[in-house]
Amino acid sequence: MTEPWWKATTVYQIYPRSFADADGDGIGDLAGITRRLDHLAELGVGVLWLSPIYPSPQDDAGYDISDYRDIDPTFGTLADFDRLLAALHERGIKLVMDLVVNHTSDEHPWFAESRSSRDSPKRDWYWWRSPRPGMEAGAPGAEPTNWRSAFSGPAWELDEATGEYYLHIFSRKQPDLNWENPEVRQAVYATMRWWLDRGVDGFRMDVINFISKAPALPDGHGDGGAFVSGSEHYLCGPRIHEFLAEMRREVFADRDELLTVGEMPGVTVEEARLFTDPARAELDMVFQFEHVQLDQGGSKWELRPLRLFDLKASLGRWQAGLAETGWNSLYWGNHDQPRAVSRFGDDREHRVRAAKMLATVLHMHRGTPYVYQGEELGMTNYPFAGIEDFRDIESLNHYAEAVATGDPPEHVLASLRKMGRDNARTPMQWDGSEHAGFTTGTPWLAVNPNHVEINAAAARADPDSVFHHYRRLIALRRDEPVVAHGDFTMLLSSDERVYAFTRRLGDSELLVLGNFSGDAVAAGVPDAERWAGAELIVGEANGDPLALRPWEGRVLRARPAPGARAGSR
Ligand code: NOJ
Repeated sequence: MTEPWWKATTVYQIYPRSFADADGDGIGDLAGITRRLDHLAELGVGVLWLSPIYPSPQDDAGYDISDYRDIDPTFGTLADFDRLLAALHERGIKLVMDLVVNHTSDEHPWFAESRSSRDSPKRDWYWWRSPRPGMEAGAPGAEPTNWRSAFSGPAWELDEATGEYYLHIFSRKQPDLNWENPEVRQAVYATMRWWLDRGVDGFRMDVINFISKAPALPDGHGDGGAFVSGSEHYLCGPRIHEFLAEMRREVFADRDELLTVGEMPGVTVEEARLFTDPARAELDMVFQFEHVQLDQGGSKWELRPLRLFDLKASLGRWQAGLAETGWNSLYWGNHDQPRAVSRFGDDREHRVRAAKMLATVLHMHRGTPYVYQGEELGMTNYPFAGIEDFRDIESLNHYAEAVATGDPPEHVLASLRKMGRDNARTPMQWDGSEHAGFTTGTPWLAVNPNHVEINAAAARADPDSVFHHYRRLIALRRDEPVVAHGDFTMLLSSDERVYAFTRRLGDSELLVLGNFSGDAVAAGVPDAERWAGAELIVGEANGDPLALRPWEGRVLRARPAPGARAGSR
């Protein structure tokens, strides 16, 4: 059986608002991306995932779409899009679009029609409900369920004109589509086929495990005050597998060489195996969230220290759970997460070494790695001074709600600085000039002042940079079958400083080491003598291959056992 192409490739994510601005309005655009494609080609990535570029009121930075078949004028035109796609394909890079179909914008014509009257033929395309029995529409607590929005407050908004509420798991400008209605599903599939016919190579599917809700919409359990998550009624809901299998049949049948990845908050390993089992024909891979929640308490704003032990237990369980059936996506960051080196590493004294170590550890796992723009430069979190520096709806709503309920503003700001999504959304740092070469205008979100030191031009010129390290890792996955296809064994599971594992395919065996501490440590791996004589294939030589400097990562290749036939597999 031939292996799917996406097992040996690496995906690069672009957040278009913040990548490159060609027209000087301070917001990134498609023409800007097209000009910068050599950066991706040089890195060696095989796929570009583009965050949403469709027309949008930009309430949630483009994840609120008002037209699925056009480009927002801020980003350009369909002609600009076609030029970008052709330029990518010329370089052998595929394009994966963001598919946001759990919800639309409230300014999408479908919703405008749906809200126009209770009798609208599209009324049932969204989730409309009467107030709680015995309560007046608009009265506190009259919302149809106690579900909470991911962006603070209730998940229901009253439409005064028709006297009913609509469901919005995200902002009130992002009403949830009703996937129970077959017309909705067919409309989505038609849109997907339209983009594939235009030449795109697949989709990253936004919160796709939210699309099947328990149709009775029961109250959520749990103790979260007036409103609780309610996610047990819509996360991997009753018809999710049926919907995704239907989508596969309706959209992807008879089309090859595509990639589908489902974003799935709260998905378990067992569910992920079902979603990505090739025999079930649903998705190629999913994004799971366990490892990016280990430094949080009940909500993402409750900070707690990350224990390396927990990280290994979690990622190790995913490696084991998808070893025989299914496939992993691998990531440290994206446009919703803080910067990887600030969160999991050291963004000060050992920034370069820590960024490289994190990359080494992640890229040597089994799965398809995703690089978020700027990660390959070791870009860091932004030094936000006050709430006026933030732009993201999630951060602004949380601040307003938390401060109104008595949290000290400094306390709220402390968690926004660590976890806020704007950390990832500051403009890409191309060079040391004003606004980092991102724009000639005024950037929509401030450029990190450290761009003077941390930028792509400097990284390309320095053979020891984080950038060139990523190039090496991406090439290894492409060229070394053991990286793409080998099995995975976690070592030292209770060591609080060293992350260690082996990969093996036939006679080929690699040992991967990462020091997650600011101390020099010796990796006490089993079989140390054999590894002490191994060949270093990633990392810097420094005497003993098992002695790691602060935040250092390494990959070693076992030498063939004495007597083994050269070249035998
Ligand atoms: C997940 C996206 O990655 C995030 O940016 C967005 O806010 C929500 N889904 C809602 O679309």
